[in-house]
This record gives sequence, structure tokens and C-alpha cells, in this order.
Amino acid sequence: MKNIVILISGEGSNMAAIVRAAKSEQWGARFGSRIAAVVSNRPDAGGLAFAAAEGIVTAVVPHKEFPTRESFDAALAKAVDAHAPTLVVLAGFMRILTPEFVTRYEGRLLNIHPSLLPAFAGLHTHRRAIEAGCRVAGATVHQVTSELDHGPILDQAVVPVLPGDSADLLAQRVLSQEHKLYPRAIAAWLARTVAVSDG
Ligand code: GAR
Repeated sequence: MKNIVILISGEGSNMAAIVRAAKSEQWGARFGSRIAAVVSNRPDAGGLAFAAAEGIVTAVVPHKEFPTRESFDAALAKAVDAHAPTLVVLAGFMRILTPEFVTRYEGRLLNIHPSLLPAFAGLHTHRRAIEAGCRVAGATVHQVTSELDHGPILDQAVVPVLPGDSADLLAQRVLSQEHKLYPRAIAAWLARTVAVSDG
């Protein structure tokens, strides 16, 4: 069985989209995969209740209880490894990961970022895209490397930036595409129809 562990920090709407796609697209039968666990660094992450209601094991590793990034990442890796993951999916997971953590899951650690990378790595992507006068914005699914919001791109979704857009309006437009993009990219990864070579 290919176990998928999803890491969240907040609402978890991408996680929910992945869980729904795994069910409706029968990832179990097609890819021999299952969503094994949802892990959050915040006890109040909204997505935890959804995951539990879906019968998925949940865990919380509260980053505030750890003195260093290294000690938090070590505890996080322990929680993730408890589910023998084939794939680790960052879905709105808002912590910068140490190189040790990234190396541990090299090649099987995916992230979604709400911009058309390599443009607008980091935070406040929607505001920055509007301020830069971009006509399009979007989201990117990429393999995680130790360089923040870089790493080989697996798939992207594009939306228009409309006249009068606020960062919130643009974020909603991008997020609704993320919910299609991330399940599609993960399914392609599981089906091995997308692969990375030479970075
Ligand atoms: C999503 O827009 C995701 O792309 C973004 O946070 C949001 C999480 O929403 N991730 C990042 O900014 C990572 N740097 P969700 O919790 O509803 O999935």
C-alpha cells in the first residue's frame, strides 16, 4: 500500500480536495494508495476535524512546544514516519523545513504554492502579483528541495488577474484552481506519468 501523509497548518481545503479526489477517483484501486494520516503543526487547524470525520488518522505536532526548528522537524518526521509514507504532501503547511527533513523525503515530498513559480516565492503572493501588474496568476505544485518554494515543477494552474482585484479575491480564484490542480498532480505522481530527471 502506498501511504500518503498530508501536512496542514490551517483550513485544509487542499487536503480535503485531495481526500475527496482519492475517493471519487478510486486511487486505492488504481494506484494502491491511501491517505494514511493528516498531521498539523497547529492544534486548531480547521482541517483536522474534516480528516477525522473522514476516518483518517490525525496527529498534531505543535511547533510552539519545540525550542528549535531542528527539534520540531525531528518530532514531525517521527509522526510522519509512523505511517511509512510513500508520499508526503504539504497542503498549506506554513513552516519552513530544515534541510534534514527535506533530504529525508527527497523525491517524495510535494508542495503547493499560490503563485506561478519561480515568480513570487514566499508570502503575500497575491498582493505582490497585483502590485507587479501581472495579468495572470496561479498556483504551482513542485517537488520540495531545501531552497524555499523552488524545486522541480510538476504542474501549474493559471487564472486571470481582473481589474479591481483585491488580494483576497485573487486568492479565492487561485484556491479554487488549487483544488483541481493538487489532486491532478498527485494522481500523475502516483501513476508515474510525471517524473523528474536532472532536477
Ligand atoms: C493555499 O492557498 C496554499 O497554496 C497556500 O496556503 C493555502 C492553504 O489553504 N500555501 C502556501 O502559501 C505555502 N507557502 P488550505 O489550508 O485551505 O489548503
